[in-house]
Amino acid sequence: MIDVSKIREDFPILKRRINGKQLAYLDNAATSQKPKQVIEAISNFYKTSNANVHRGIHTLSVEATELMENARRKVADFVGVKDSAEIIFVRNATEAVNLVAYSWGRNNIGRGDEIVLTVAEHHSNFVVWQQLALENGAVLKIVPLRQAQGLRPIHENGEVDLVAFKNALTKKTKLVAFFHVSNVLGIINNANRLSSIVHREAPKAKILIDGAQAVPHMPVDIDSIGCDFYVFTGHKMLGPTGIGVLWAKRELLEEMPPFLFGGEMISKVVLEKSSWNELPWKFEAGTPDIAGAIGLGAAVDYLSKIGMENVRKHEIKLTEHAIKKLSEIPDVTIYGPLDAKVRGGVVAFNVGPAHAHDVASILDSEGVAIRSGHHCAQPLMEFLQIESAARASFYIYNTEEEVDRLVEGIGKVKKVFKI
Ligand SMILES: Cc1ncc(COP(=O)(O)O)c(C=O)c1O
Repeated sequence: MIDVSKIREDFPILKRRINGKQLAYLDNAATSQKPKQVIEAISNFYKTSNANVHRGIHTLSVEATELMENARRKVADFVGVKDSAEIIFVRNATEAVNLVAYSWGRNNIGRGDEIVLTVAEHHSNFVVWQQLALENGAVLKIVPLRQAQGLRPIHENGEVDLVAFKNALTKKTKLVAFFHVSNVLGIINNANRLSSIVHREAPKAKILIDGAQAVPHMPVDIDSIGCDFYVFTGHKMLGPTGIGVLWAKRELLEEMPPFLFGGEMISKVVLEKSSWNELPWKFEAGTPDIAGAIGLGAAVDYLSKIGMENVRKHEIKLTEHAIKKLSEIPDVTIYGPLDAKVRGGVVAFNVGPAHAHDVASILDSEGVAIRSGHHCAQPLMEFLQIESAARASFYIYNTEEEVDRLVEGIGKVKKVFKI
């Protein structure tokens, strides 16, 4: 098990007091806090090795290049990718999905072709495809969630509606894109199983998995999933903002045209035409976020030391505790499965008729930071027939005592709103 009090010492921000109370940071699905090891890796880079990468032959440039390429290797190892040239550094998960849509999508998805998504996608894996479909005349097919017990989706197996998923796949399916872990319901999709259904029913379709909420919280072995594209984002896994990852199979990346053009991504430029650099640099035009990549490498070191199995176990414990306590409060509706073992450490809920923003604001006055709103998942909100929800989300440094403070804060919400 993990030593939370020791871990907390590495996160300077957790010492902050908010509105006179000790901060309880429960908004990790939005972004995680950063340990001093990550902050120091970034500041040490600027203090000792700052130079541009892949360009100079002077010592600092060689050092900066080595640090960045080491970080790529670490990230590849962390997610079970053998060929580190398949790890493309981008700004975030959103940019990774856009890269796929612009480079592969716009060249391979045309009029009448079908794109299959689930209703619970984050906007970054929804709007991008909706836009492509509108431009190219492709058809968006949206797979619903299996529902039971009124409006609360319950999934014994923790997946989207598998029958509807299978039925959505046809000969015209060109792309299937789905979340690995839902940022609202916490549902964990069985990525291997969904991928094999796609291989069977629509063998020509490509599969993109949004791992933004998976890679930070559980062991992920991309090479074994059987997907074509996998995206995730550094800032949710202890890394800095501004760095994210696209993974795709080498053969696919070789076939795809560059997304952005300019410096760093070329092999040779003559007046009439240019040729492209090798992978991964073909997709990394311009000066990259060198410090960001190094920071992400340090984040991966930090998480590896703890062990992702331990991260997952800790989150199951906190989520179990949260669901138990929240279920005991009359008028609190929890969305998503109630079994913490089939869900990630994200718990969305509403308190009677109180607006989620009011819930978050009262909790903030108690020093408890949670998220409220539509969570960049408006199609899911519509599906659940709600406008918004409050959401508490956990990470390695959170404690059961912080969950209890969340529960106490909800007591205050109920008092204020006389619920
Ligand atoms: C499931 C999911 N996908 C994608 C994203 C987008 O991540 P980013 O904003 O870093 O691109 C998020 C962020 O909240 C998310 O939760």
